[in-house]
Amino acid sequence: MRLIDRMLQWIYFSRLFRSGQSKRDQKAPQQPGLDQAKLKVPMHLAVIMDGNGRWAQRRGLPRQAGHRQGSEKLQDLCRMCGNHGIKYLTVYAFSTENWNRPQDEVHTLMALFVEFFHRFDAQLAEEGIRVRFSGDINNLPEHIQKIIKKAEADSYNRQRMQLIIAINYGGRRELVQACQKLASKAAAGEISPDSIDEDLLSRHLYLPDVPDPDLIIRPSGEQRLSNFLIWQSAYSELWFSDVLWPDFSESDLQEALTAYTRRDRRYGGIKKS
Ligand code: FPP
Repeated sequence: MRLIDRMLQWIYFSRLFRSGQSKRDQKAPQQPGLDQAKLKVPMHLAVIMDGNGRWAQRRGLPRQAGHRQGSEKLQDLCRMCGNHGIKYLTVYAFSTENWNRPQDEVHTLMALFVEFFHRFDAQLAEEGIRVRFSGDINNLPEHIQKIIKKAEADSYNRQRMQLIIAINYGGRRELVQACQKLASKAAAGEISPDSIDEDLLSRHLYLPDVPDPDLIIRPSGEQRLSNFLIWQSAYSELWFSDVLWPDFSESDLQEALTAYTRRDRRYGGIKKS
């Protein structure tokens, strides 16, 4: 670990100790709860892990400390989702636009990514979590690609839940790359342009076998998708909250699932009587 990272880690832990880790930045508005048994659980939950930088800044910590706390929260989220019976969890870890952040922050995010697998792999295995990745993986640094391949191979047979990490991911890039694959096939005479429909395009996305997300959660007060799963989210339910990602808790997840349970998903049709 670089000296600068060690210093940041020390500052982080000492300030965290003083400020109290569990202190919430924002109290999420409470909805009347639903009986646990009546909760409708999405097959596929997707989460934009936003608010790490603000979480750190509010504590006088470097932004990197917020990302570290955010990666710990991801480990908690995996456990919570597994317990609720969610089958697919996709998290937005690094977007194609995040390369524009300061070099130090990009370095920390990549380092946290590596550390996540070193620290939590045993827990992921114990919880039966298969790990997959979505994004422009071939354009990531070699050492990250190696970790990705190893994590995918090691976890291939786990069946309780799939954790999909969107890294170097952009919804527009995913669509452009799908179009390039289709155009190459058409140019080679393998498909006819007329055969391109929604189904065929879907089958050329990064993870064609993964169902579309039923529910997308974005904490931190922002209400946009930021280039996340833009094709797959056509009929997703969206849930926003002011809580910052490092503070996201089981009660926030319960609140999101309660809201989801009450939604009426019509997919452009009309309500069934
Ligand atoms: C957005 O918050 C968050 C990110 C760009 C990175 C998310 C990454 C992690 C939670 C940890 C690393 C991932 C893994 C898989 C271990 P922000 O920094 O934009 O927050 P702000 O809007 O408050 O500045």
